[in-house]
Amino acid sequence: MGFILAAAGSAVGLANVWKFPYMAYENGGTFVLIYLLCLLVIGFPLLIGEMLVGKASGKGLFEAFGELGKPLWNNFGYLCILSGVLILGFYCVVGGWCFFYAGSYAMQGMGVAEVPGFGDYTGNGWQQILSTFAFVAVTIGVVMAGVMRGIEQMVRYLMPLLGILLLVFAGYATSKVGFSVVTDQLFTYNPDTLNGETVLKAVGHAFFSLSLGIGAMLVFASYLKEDNIVKAGLWVGVIDTAVALVACFVVIPMVLLIQKQGGQVDEGAGALFVAVPALLSDFAGGNWLNMLFFFLLSCAALTSSVSLFEVVASGLHSRLSPEGDPRKYNWIMGAFVMVLALITSLSVGANESISKLNLFTHFDDAVTLYLLPLGGLLIAIFVGWLMPESIIKQHFGKRAIYPVWRGIIRYVTPLAMGLILLQSFL
Ligand code: PHE
Repeated sequence: MGFILAAAGSAVGLANVWKFPYMAYENGGTFVLIYLLCLLVIGFPLLIGEMLVGKASGKGLFEAFGELGKPLWNNFGYLCILSGVLILGFYCVVGGWCFFYAGSYAMQGMGVAEVPGFGDYTGNGWQQILSTFAFVAVTIGVVMAGVMRGIEQMVRYLMPLLGILLLVFAGYATSKVGFSVVTDQLFTYNPDTLNGETVLKAVGHAFFSLSLGIGAMLVFASYLKEDNIVKAGLWVGVIDTAVALVACFVVIPMVLLIQKQGGQVDEGAGALFVAVPALLSDFAGGNWLNMLFFFLLSCAALTSSVSLFEVVASGLHSRLSPEGDPRKYNWIMGAFVMVLALITSLSVGANESISKLNLFTHFDDAVTLYLLPLGGLLIAIFVGWLMPESIIKQHFGKRAIYPVWRGIIRYVTPLAMGLILLQSFL
């Protein structure tokens, strides 16, 4: 249970609630359908593959592959560190937005301050800096305090609450425009929009959302004792996908509605922060509901950022000085992530010259479109072709799906990933 909680806590986060709905809206049904296909053909098999490497070796980022006989592959850890730092660079900015909205709705509820609109807020340098600072500081604080039990409790009790809230919001929002309007937008396949870019975005998002290709699942599984990899992987995948789809039924109807009423929702990344307040403006207790929602979302974001931070910092520690004090690496990492995230926070409109660099989007794209898929490809090759099959069988357990999984991870996943990555460079 501890493993499923930790892995689900890492997987379910901003990728599901903040990012997937606006991507689904912008890229349409073709993207969503390809995303679901990618989960089946690439996401699930790789999730199990990455967990196998962790469980079979019982080791972390820089030792797992060596333990399984391929020391050169330990350098995979560097890729994970690069991806991890870049993700934290923009993830903490969005986490800060959630903090800010939770806090300002509480203030508005008490009648002390007004909540600014999304554009005004992201254009305000001081507010950006303060929110991002707070999110990074809390992430570092949680890691430093070593309160993993606390994280488990958060996932166990608060995440289901976020799920219920999302379901209720989804029901209400969808009733405003009609169920079929949303499903049409979400699931209609349009061959004209089927191209390499859409496929790459879908695969990349599958990696980002499942926390794959970055060694996180590997590290969690290295603590795993029992043989329930397949079941655990399946649970994590199903929960992650369910949350993402439900979030679409909250955001998309509201975006459609706002547009129908002549309003503009052009800021993709801001869709969630516009949609939920618009939905809740119908209610007398709207401020407090908004506060509760953004608070729970902040918790979901934190369980992801903490897992990411831990994986990278512990990797650095084991690589650079396994004997030394691990806290030192938390501080070094923390300082680095803080500076990076603060600069990124000014790139969404607050500072003209930083905004021109488009750091936020570049970090996001670099990781989701290239680094995580590359990590995934490497894991598929390793598990499918280099890891001794006897070890795999020992940890996979006796399951009828073994031959299917093996065929997919050996042939389908590497081929699909290779082609997708190749075409993106052409
Ligand atoms: N999967 C997390 C989310 O959905 C983000 C994440 C990616 C966390 C990679 C850890 C590692 O928000």
